Amino acid sequence: MPLRVHAQVGASTIIAPEFPEARLREALAELGPAVRLSYGRTEEEFEAALAEAEVLLLAGQAPLHDLRRRAPRLRWISHTSAGVEWLLALDLPPEITLTNASGTHEPKAAEFALMAVLMLNNHVPHLVTSQRAHRWDPRSAGTVEGKTALILGMGALGGGAAGALKRQGMRVIGNSRSGRPHPAADVMTRGRAFRDHLHEADFLIIALPLTPETHGLIGRAELDRLPRHAGVVNIGRGEQLDAAALAAKLADGSLGGAVLDALPQEPLRADSPLWDAPNLIVTAHCGLYAPGDYGRRCLEAFRANLIRWLAGETLRQVVRRDLGY
Ligand SMILES: NC(=O)c1ccc[n+]([C@@H]2O[C@H](COP(=O)([O-])OP(=O)(O)OC[C@H]3O[C@@H](n4cnc5c(N)ncnc54)[C@H](OP(=O)(O)O)[C@@H]3O)[C@@H](O)[C@H]2O)c1
Repeated sequence: MPLRVHAQVGASTIIAPEFPEARLREALAELGPAVRLSYGRTEEEFEAALAEAEVLLLAGQAPLHDLRRRAPRLRWISHTSAGVEWLLALDLPPEITLTNASGTHEPKAAEFALMAVLMLNNHVPHLVTSQRAHRWDPRSAGTVEGKTALILGMGALGGGAAGALKRQGMRVIGNSRSGRPHPAADVMTRGRAFRDHLHEADFLIIALPLTPETHGLIGRAELDRLPRHAGVVNIGRGEQLDAAALAAKLADGSLGGAVLDALPQEPLRADSPLWDAPNLIVTAHCGLYAPGDYGRRCLEAFRANLIRWLAGETLRQVVRRDLGY
């Protein structure tokens, strides 16, 4: 019996063009008759496929309530995002394995973090703010060599960022839940111990999954511990950083600048004060997306996992529901 795999691509997701049916069929062609693929874009197609589906590849969102009844054979959901907090909030049946796209963004995360740090180091947020105000206000900097980046989250995103910054001769203090050593980190810290190093950070980079532990992790008290010249980068999730406190510190000059790819509401409302916060650059949650490459990397990882699944081997990119990532 072929494995029944259904691919569902949410209509509203900006990554939908990455997953056309032909590309999926081509990606799975080498598996031959071992896999039977169905493909859907609408809720009707999704509902029709659920009764038989054993594996669901999901891009964007789909109605996932009451899965035991609607999808009795479903055993694995593979999602094409790295952050799957909304899926975990649905309380999926425990017999369903959940995998994510962690790793897919790594090369782009490395470049984006390097770009953001170089922008902050060279006062680009300040220069852009001055330009908008028609103000000639030069500010220069030395290179980043020898400066310190504190990186919260040392997985695919943070680890990629650490490698890129290390190659510029920077000092990297990493932070993770486990505190496991990382080849690109000079120092590793564990859990909340990062707070003891905030005063050393020329740059703070947030690259964390959203979990109960990381929600609201960086508030006014943590920002106050950073040096006045420090720059903040958030490529994780907006809920991890008190953006209002950040904006207040940027406005009174007690922080250097910030680059936020992840925002507290997305899209940011037109009346949000963050748009006008000085020395702040907002990148609309598009900084880590590499068009074309993203879909290719996701499908390669999914195909490799399907081969493992068919062979009865352990999957990669499995989400630990007890940890929330
Ligand atoms: N801006 C974007 O477009 C974009 C793109 C992709 C992802 N994201 C967000 O970035 C998140 C991270 O992605 P990833 O692929 O790097 O995830 P990942 O590979 O799973 O890495 C997560 C890292 O966070 C650490 N961590 C988890 N909880 C922690 C805690 N309470 N304190 C300290 N460290 C903690 C983990 O520690 P251990 O190493 O000890 O497990 C790990 O190093 C995603 O969940 C998503 O929300 C954003």
